[in-house]
Amino acid sequence: MADSNTFGVAGLLGWPVAHSRSPVIHNHWLAHYGIAGRYLLFAVPPEKLEAAVRGIAVLGLRGCNVTTPHKQAIFPLLDRVDDLARRIGAVNTVVVEKDGTLTGFNNDGNGFIESLRDANPEWTPGSGPVLVLGAGGAARAVVASLAAQGAKEIRLANRTLDKAQEIADAVGPVVKVVRWEHREDALDGIVLLANATSLGMAGKSPLDISLERLSKTALVGDLIYIPPETPLLAAARARGNITVNGLGLLLNQARRAFNAWFGVMPEITPALRQAIAATF
Ligand code: ATR
Repeated sequence: MADSNTFGVAGLLGWPVAHSRSPVIHNHWLAHYGIAGRYLLFAVPPEKLEAAVRGIAVLGLRGCNVTTPHKQAIFPLLDRVDDLARRIGAVNTVVVEKDGTLTGFNNDGNGFIESLRDANPEWTPGSGPVLVLGAGGAARAVVASLAAQGAKEIRLANRTLDKAQEIADAVGPVVKVVRWEHREDALDGIVLLANATSLGMAGKSPLDISLERLSKTALVGDLIYIPPETPLLAAARARGNITVNGLGLLLNQARRAFNAWFGVMPEITPALRQAIAATF
């Protein structure tokens, strides 16, 4: 981290970036903690990524977030990538070290797990089998982070079986691949159902799953936050399950990044949640 007396700049590298809520989050915290700085959006097309990453330290940025389509492409441009980000195969946060070198992290999965613990502090990834639906980048972050935090059995179901198998091969035998048609059978005995597919997103069809076999004490998490309550979360809440949407992931991964860049672990307050809700 740079000298805390200087104006601290961080931002998001992506293409496109205009939709991002990250500026609202980080600029809210900078103001709240009286830190002189700014979080900016950097629209960087793929062919300019290398030049942009070279500029990060030179321009004195504290670091940046990374989003589509750069999360994998940035790997060879960094000085080091931490183990979890490597296992996930994607970087979502870059930190400029004191010597100007760049380290890549991925806080998405850990941010999701923290949001589950915010909803139920007694819950841990190791408290029983979990079921993750989906096998895109988001699912991979969640599965690898659950495994790193002690999950003992991660059932993974995806429409395209091969993609789930690839994640299982990368993360290890704790991941049990389940056929998409058998997703309801896999609800038996789980302590967490996590939707990491795009089903239920605004404008997409809902996830088709009966929750009959799901324990009422299981947590139900959806990585989607638009809409704030997907049909899956509405159905789960109606039967008494504790539910968590994807806003918690966004906020908790941002906390870790903010701490790395600005040296303060910020709090997720009702005022911050309101500031984000106002952007929808
Ligand atoms: P992200 O990077 O955000 O995870 P993604 O890579 O586009 O997004 O992943 C979308 C996920 O939603 C995938 O798991 C996808 O399943 P496939 O791997 O079979 O494509 C899942 N998904 C999207 N539409 C779906 C549908 N109609 N039925 C089942 N799964 C679907």
